[in-house]
Amino acid sequence: MAKIIGIVNQKGGVGKTTTAINLSSALAHFRRKVLLIDLDPQSDATRGLGFDPALQPKTIYDVLVKNYDLNRVIKKTVVKHLELVPSNLKLASIDSAIEEKVVDKLSLLKETLLTLKKDYDYIIIDCPPSLGTLNYNSLVAANSVLIPVQCEYFALEAVSPTLVAISNTQKSSNPHLEIEGFLLTMYDARTRLGIEISQEIRGLFKENTFLTTIPRNISIPEASFRGVPVTIFRPSASGSLAYFSLAREVIDKEESN
Ligand SMILES: Nc1ncnc2c1ncn2[C@@H]1O[C@H](COP(=O)(O)OP(=O)(O)OP(=O)(O)O)[C@@H](O)[C@H]1O
Ligand SMILES: [Mg+2]
Repeated sequence: MAKIIGIVNQKGGVGKTTTAINLSSALAHFRRKVLLIDLDPQSDATRGLGFDPALQPKTIYDVLVKNYDLNRVIKKTVVKHLELVPSNLKLASIDSAIEEKVVDKLSLLKETLLTLKKDYDYIIIDCPPSLGTLNYNSLVAANSVLIPVQCEYFALEAVSPTLVAISNTQKSSNPHLEIEGFLLTMYDARTRLGIEISQEIRGLFKENTFLTTIPRNISIPEASFRGVPVTIFRPSASGSLAYFSLAREVIDKEESN
């Protein structure tokens, strides 16, 4: 059975998609079979893996809204062992598009994952920066949540609505939902500010914080621009090494359970 990890933070631009793509690619590097689901209408994960969202005939939208077969929208990627469920802008209209007869619209993704024919080790879900239908679908479907936290002031305040959403979901429909960990992103070791903030965040989230910190690294946006994970584009870049190390932490945690 696949472990399902949602990459969630309602704050925009904190490194969710970068983490979804590169954690997936790094897990695949360690020969784990990975399915990355792009659950964001912005479709950055789809683009970041080299696909044009506008050219996708069927996407996660058709699966969730029109009952289209999930297995038929899965795409192979340039990364061996990594496959993608693409998204496009249509996903933004999910609320108005879901038929009224759908009783539990927050369980659509969970139900759909039960129809997967292929076995994966990990399913990674890239979520949009909001706390609406899409994010709740990922919280209901997931085994755990990975929360990227940008190294900046007010990080805790930024994360608190996400923690409330997790707690609501645990109380209502997914009592076993765990926090996989908080991940410090875009860390700049050259500045005192970066060091201070990362220490403060580690103090707040304690052992729930991954040992790995993702540094600010120019190879990361360069790789996105070319539509490949940084772990493939420049495997020895500091950003790649960090995502390999994060993947090892995720695997070790899973295997020690
Ligand atoms: N470690 C990093 N070093 C340098 N640039 C980074 C790093 N991580 C992310 N970025 C850049 O920061 C921007 C925001 O990152 P990303 O798209 O991953 O955030 P997000 O949380 O998915 O955003 P959104 O909330 O809009 O979905 C992107 O341009 C990305 O290339
Ligand atoms: Mg994103």
